[in-house]
Amino acid sequence: MKPHERASALFRSAFGAEPAAVASAPGRVNLIGEHVDYHGGHVLPVAIAERTAVAVGPAARFAAASEQEERIEGAWPPEPLHRWSDYVAGVGVAMDARTGPWAQGFHAAVASDVPTGAGVSSSAALEVATALALTAWAERPVRGRDLAEAGFRAETEFVGMPCGRMDQMASALTPPGSALLIDCRTLEARAVPVGLDLVLADSGERHALRDSEYPQRRREGDEALRRLSAAHPGITRLLDIPPARLAELAGGLPEPLGRRVRHVVNENQRTILAARALEAGDAAAVGLLVNASHDSLRDLYECSTPRLDAIVEAARALPRVLGARLVGAGWGGAVLVVCERGSGGSVAAHLRSAGPHAPASVREVALGAGAAPGV
Ligand code: GLA
Repeated sequence: MKPHERASALFRSAFGAEPAAVASAPGRVNLIGEHVDYHGGHVLPVAIAERTAVAVGPAARFAAASEQEERIEGAWPPEPLHRWSDYVAGVGVAMDARTGPWAQGFHAAVASDVPTGAGVSSSAALEVATALALTAWAERPVRGRDLAEAGFRAETEFVGMPCGRMDQMASALTPPGSALLIDCRTLEARAVPVGLDLVLADSGERHALRDSEYPQRRREGDEALRRLSAAHPGITRLLDIPPARLAELAGGLPEPLGRRVRHVVNENQRTILAARALEAGDAAAVGLLVNASHDSLRDLYECSTPRLDAIVEAARALPRVLGARLVGAGWGGAVLVVCERGSGGSVAAHLRSAGPHAPASVREVALGAGAAPGV
């Protein structure tokens, strides 16, 4: 059964009623453009075929059931419980909790095929599916961007993870079978053809450090910007630094701030170039940019791990592999391997048989599409 059917069935068995609405949204894999979204840079994610579905209906309090997680019940309006259900409750709060049909609370049932902790943003899939289910129930017209914004607010304001907007935009808006080039400053987005095979190799390392290191990187970015804009009033964000002056301006900062700034500015350029290369059908150029992205995340942004680096090296040595890099926040999670069209199956098989260094799991990425009601 598909997630939306399972979510509806779970809703009936958990709450003894028909859901008022059901919607689903995908996880995402970012081709390139890592740790630039919260600086207003460009990202280039694809939606994966695996989806999370959420069925919702009326209730006098809040309760959430899941195929995988413990059932949670609580008051409405809710306080963060530091549990999985915060992503669901947080969206309800972000979406005008006083006037929706969920003003007194709601029931939600969740079914998902999106793996958790593997760098494919299961949290954004859950948030965006919840946002669309709630708007469908309220019979409100909605734009994909509003769904993404509700998910972003749930995550940053309710859950307390200071993420950027990439994951929710990707889950809400990606058209079928394409990548989406998103300008995280203007939130303009355009579809880009992929024309490559993608393999995801999960390190099995869960993001042990992410909770502390990610906010730390954000503070470092803020500090670098504070210093640069004090000396150069024209610089209001790191991406205002002209690439031609990067060496000089980053070189004037204490480390590690200089390294962080060099990563952000160059990664943004790489992402724009990668989108152009995909549009031009230049797969080899995409691979080189993907490799440069990983090397920068490892050496300048310092968010890789020895295990991720080992998987990247093993992947790069395989025939028909164009490039490999850690994907998502880092500090664990997965490696994205970009390979020639038609080679994903054999590349995945090679990686699986890499003996003691084999990733915990390897799969070909099937492209999906953004959020949809009822499915
Ligand atoms: C996480 C965040 C995103 C983004 C990436 C790094 O996935 O949720 O907003 O910052 O890390 O690119």
